[in-house]
Amino acid sequence: MDKHTQQLLEIDRQRVFHASTHLKQYAHGEVAGRIITQAKGVRIQDSLGNELLDGFAGLYCVNIGYGREEMAEAIYEQAKKLAYYHTYVGHTNEALIELSDRIIKMAPQGMSKVYYGMSGSDANETQLKLVWYYNNLLNRPEKKKIISRDRGYHGSSIASGSMTGLPLFHAHFDLPLERIKHTIAPYYYHRQDSEMSELEFSRYCAEQLEVMILAEGPETVAAMIAEPVLGTGGIVPPPEGYWRAIRKVLDKYDVLLIADEVVCGFGRIGAPFGSIYYDMQPDLITVAKGLTSAYQPLSGVIVGEKVWQALENGTDAWGPFGHGYTYSGHPLGAAAANCNLDIIERENLVQYAADTGQYLQEKMRETFAEHPIVGDTRGVGMLHALEFAADKQQRTLFDPNLKVGPQIAAACLESGLIARAMPHGDILGFAPPLVATRADIDLMVDKAHHAINKVMDSLVTSKQWQAK
Ligand SMILES: Cc1ncc(COP(=O)(O)O)c(C=O)c1O
Repeated sequence: MDKHTQQLLEIDRQRVFHASTHLKQYAHGEVAGRIITQAKGVRIQDSLGNELLDGFAGLYCVNIGYGREEMAEAIYEQAKKLAYYHTYVGHTNEALIELSDRIIKMAPQGMSKVYYGMSGSDANETQLKLVWYYNNLLNRPEKKKIISRDRGYHGSSIASGSMTGLPLFHAHFDLPLERIKHTIAPYYYHRQDSEMSELEFSRYCAEQLEVMILAEGPETVAAMIAEPVLGTGGIVPPPEGYWRAIRKVLDKYDVLLIADEVVCGFGRIGAPFGSIYYDMQPDLITVAKGLTSAYQPLSGVIVGEKVWQALENGTDAWGPFGHGYTYSGHPLGAAAANCNLDIIERENLVQYAADTGQYLQEKMRETFAEHPIVGDTRGVGMLHALEFAADKQQRTLFDPNLKVGPQIAAACLESGLIARAMPHGDILGFAPPLVATRADIDLMVDKAHHAINKVMDSLVTSKQWQAK
């Protein structure tokens, strides 16, 4: 390692509090650090000159790929003209007006307004407040519980972290909040009953949701929040018929649906929104990541007509809506989002992602469906997961202590590929920038194949696993 990098990393270890990191191991140099210096297209570079193929688009967010000068210019031009003004009490800016009109036109039918924040977490925090306010307006003060799902991911703030359904985000933080409940994940691969078809499993998930609503009391359940495709919880597309069955239960008990489109929105699954792809008919939508392809932090809460009408009437009764961030509707974020949407439209990236995504799905299945330690290969559009299993036929997972997933992600990294070891289970996630070519996909699959074989061989050599 060169001296400069070493010195910088030492300061980093002393001074930076990193997200989702083993703090002590990092501070003591037991976890490697990497200084990312530049990036272009689907590749990033570190300070040692290593080039990595980014098979996860950062955190599934850099959809248009890295290093777009047009984006830098759009942000620069906006900064020169108007770097900031707030959006309180009717103040606005041109970039924001244009963006909001575009989002509503692109969104599923029935959407009305967009409220802005800086992250997926704060947007989901806003969602929760909207839903509570909405039910207070309708004089239903008891109707406040939110149903999320095991393995759902909605952020890591107090409310959004509570809605997240992963133990790592709850334990030792005194979460989840009491009003937030979790129903079962639509995780067909993990079904108990092997005989169940996808359709039957979807029906079962909907029944479980209904059981929960009835047990809690329908008069206390305000909303369900869900990603169209489970993301951080394992990249799990819903089983056939899932959203239809869920929507029916929600309608029966007058429960709102919040579609968390932070990952799926703006083309990731080869459609403008996951809720359009799956016909979810949400009442509220959360967006972030792909809205600016992460060139600026920006999130949005898209509010449907039904909720909006109540909110408008509410301010008649209660006065101004008491919710706002200094940076709501930030002009630099809006300018970046407009430029990002220009690129998506001009390059027809949603359709391109659908086509390349189909190639990705086929290539993964072709390569890994028969692999001895790949239990499941699943995905949609430019999202894919490989789940590893000790016994493929029985769907028996590996002992978590073997850390098969993290070992494989590390082996990928050694060969110059970033694929993500998902935080819960031995699952390797792929979500390349939407601009990835078929040649990039081939290389990604090749490198992953190599890494998986390498870890499998070492499991055999160390007698930790053997083929059945
Ligand atoms: C579906 C979903 N919702 C919300 C979030 C939280 O977004 P942020 O990390 O910007 O707070 C994420 C982040 O990965 C996400 O995947």
